[in-house]
Amino acid sequence: MKKVQETDRVIRGWLEEVRMDVLKEMQDPLAISEKSSRKDLVTNIDKSNEKKLVNFIRQFDPEARILGEEGSGDVVQDMKGHVWIIDPLDGTLNFVKQRDNFAIMIALYIDGKGILGYIMDVMHDIIYGGGPEIGVFTDTQKLRTPDNLTLREGLLGVSGPMLVHDRYHLQAIDEASSGVRIIGSAGIEFIQVLTGKQNGYISHLMPWDFAAGKILSETLELSVTKVDGTPVDMLSSNDVLVSTRNTQKDIINMIR
Ligand code: IPD
Ligand code: CA
Ligand code: CA
Ligand code: CA
Repeated sequence: MKKVQETDRVIRGWLEEVRMDVLKEMQDPLAISEKSSRKDLVTNIDKSNEKKLVNFIRQFDPEARILGEEGSGDVVQDMKGHVWIIDPLDGTLNFVKQRDNFAIMIALYIDGKGILGYIMDVMHDIIYGGGPEIGVFTDTQKLRTPDNLTLREGLLGVSGPMLVHDRYHLQAIDEASSGVRIIGSAGIEFIQVLTGKQNGYISHLMPWDFAAGKILSETLELSVTKVDGTPVDMLSSNDVLVSTRNTQKDIINMIR
């Protein structure tokens, strides 16, 4: 295994390269198709980003397996050895409707342990990346552990559908917090929690939606679990809660 620092530099280079392509390609009309519904879209750019990232990873780490949302990677059924988990474009609906508030995410796990995670906020050109060995950095800043706010002291990111359907008494949790926010990109939501702008985020997520954010959050001593406080499963969908430890305690008490 190459040194973590060297791998960090290489991954940041991939992200910058893919970002430049996205900025160029989004000048042309997008090819958009529906997956499960009209609210679940995929574009030519989701697919081309994934192909590029898979190629980069295959050249860099040929033995590894790759789990990606759009299926250019491998069928991954366990976390043994090197497993890369990628979301080539997170927040596709935002990308299509807003041309903003979307991310590219990459995570590397070795034997189930999170080694490196990256969330690139494409339109702001900021990469939040790193892991337990090196800490969490942007290009200009080392992130510190956010203040351990309680639920009532901060803003909570939520999934719109979960709030509307009042899953886990989310409407009461909303009342108990300072307010909820709905951004529509798991990656950008994780960034809000990593930077202390929100004290938590609750959503139903697939592995590629939370794999990178989990590594970064845990490096900063934030907790990432299912909403009931049990460990997340890295290979299936989960109702995920990322938050400060005090907010996690408050939410678990409220859903009991
Ligand atoms: C989606 C976004 C959204 C979350 C959905 C994800 P995608 O990812 O992260 O915020 O609520 O569950 O599927 O499909 O745009 O990569
Ligand atoms: Ca998608
Ligand atoms: Ca996603
Ligand atoms: Ca995606």
